[in-house]
Amino acid sequence: MSPGPGSLDRDLRRRAEAVIPGGMYGHQSVALLPDDYPQFFRSGQGAHITDVDGRRYLDLMCAYGPNLFGYAHPGIDAAYVRQLGQGDALTGPTALMVELAEAFVAMVGHADWAMVCKNGTDATTMAMMTARQHTGRKTLVLASGAYHGAAPWCTPRPAGTTAEDKAHQVFCAYNDIASLEAAAAKAGDDLAAIFAAPFRHDAFIDQAAPDPAYARRARELADETGALLVVDDVRGGLRIARDCSWSVLGVQPDLSTWGKCIANGHPISALLGNDKARKAAASIYVTGSFWYAGAAMAAALETLRLVRESDYLERITGLGEQLRAGLAERAAAAGFGFRQTGPGVMPLFLFDDDPDLRKGFCWSSAMLARGVYVHPWHNMFLCAAMTPADIDFALDAAEQAFQTLKRQAHDLPPVAKLAFLTAR
Ligand SMILES: Cc1ncc(COP(=O)(O)O)c(C=O)c1O
Repeated sequence: MSPGPGSLDRDLRRRAEAVIPGGMYGHQSVALLPDDYPQFFRSGQGAHITDVDGRRYLDLMCAYGPNLFGYAHPGIDAAYVRQLGQGDALTGPTALMVELAEAFVAMVGHADWAMVCKNGTDATTMAMMTARQHTGRKTLVLASGAYHGAAPWCTPRPAGTTAEDKAHQVFCAYNDIASLEAAAAKAGDDLAAIFAAPFRHDAFIDQAAPDPAYARRARELADETGALLVVDDVRGGLRIARDCSWSVLGVQPDLSTWGKCIANGHPISALLGNDKARKAAASIYVTGSFWYAGAAMAAALETLRLVRESDYLERITGLGEQLRAGLAERAAAAGFGFRQTGPGVMPLFLFDDDPDLRKGFCWSSAMLARGVYVHPWHNMFLCAAMTPADIDFALDAAEQAFQTLKRQAHDLPPVAKLAFLTAR
């Protein structure tokens, strides 16, 4: 077992308690992870992160997605720093803004235009506003459990929001055509948009590939009703395809939302759309003090160049297959029902017969102790800085972690934060 957070981490947590509400907020709160997980980090390089106490881990979280080509990527960061030297947030945008929109339009099949912003939530909120403006209607169809950000209209926790913030939303079950049709029928002539994740990547449950028939039906329902179809590619974008993720199913949305890895961790996100939605997008008032800043746009342009010109997608897909096959073999050898779901490049691991995640917590802690940072209930991410040797390292760690779990499986303590974790 890992010795628990180091002394610098503990000290920072104590200081944070005094000056940061709750000590930390959102998804970075280790209140959601096993006790021995570090809260604070010192650096990232390639596929590895080093915590504030100097322990280095192979990082299968990739910053929850932003790390696509490796932390501190020399080419991408050089583009960022070059632009910083020339000016970042100026009184108006640089030419990079137009170049970036052109790059997206050239790369993403359904896109005729692009608007850049800062966080994924900016992009999904703009998608919602564009759809409402385009249709003059209010109701959104969303898949229950799908995450689209942390603004009042979409945050998964009700604290600080009103019922009105979430009015005009109808929920369906992902991949369930009848449920999607029922939700669209319930929205009736007020349907503004159907939101879809590229695959089911909800926390705590098995991931699921999109059923092509579900995706096609979403497209048809949007066409029949005049609503807009939105694919939220903030998390999955560029790890499934060099295009919108539903392009592999032959389904083109009207709007797609992007963020996280599009500048390899530099702060920028985007809403892309087709001509149908152009007028509405031009008429909503959306902006931010930092949205026109050039440095992240320079990093995004370099990231998109690497996306177009390198074999990163094929390499991370191969690494995902190596990891999946190796883990399946080791879990079976140790006698565990171990479910690996989602695309290999964005896997989620759950143990059979583990309703309160105590096995997952124990195994994840054992991985951490062996230098591999995994997540017990959220999908993970692979990056192009990983090598087959890194995956072998993770597999060796996993083999030992399964043995640790085997020794402790019959006597695992309840996960102290159980109620918090499983109350969705
Ligand atoms: C699918 C999806 N949409 C939207 C968001 C919100 O992005 P951000 O956290 O950058 O606001 C996320 C973040 O995890 C996401 O996974």
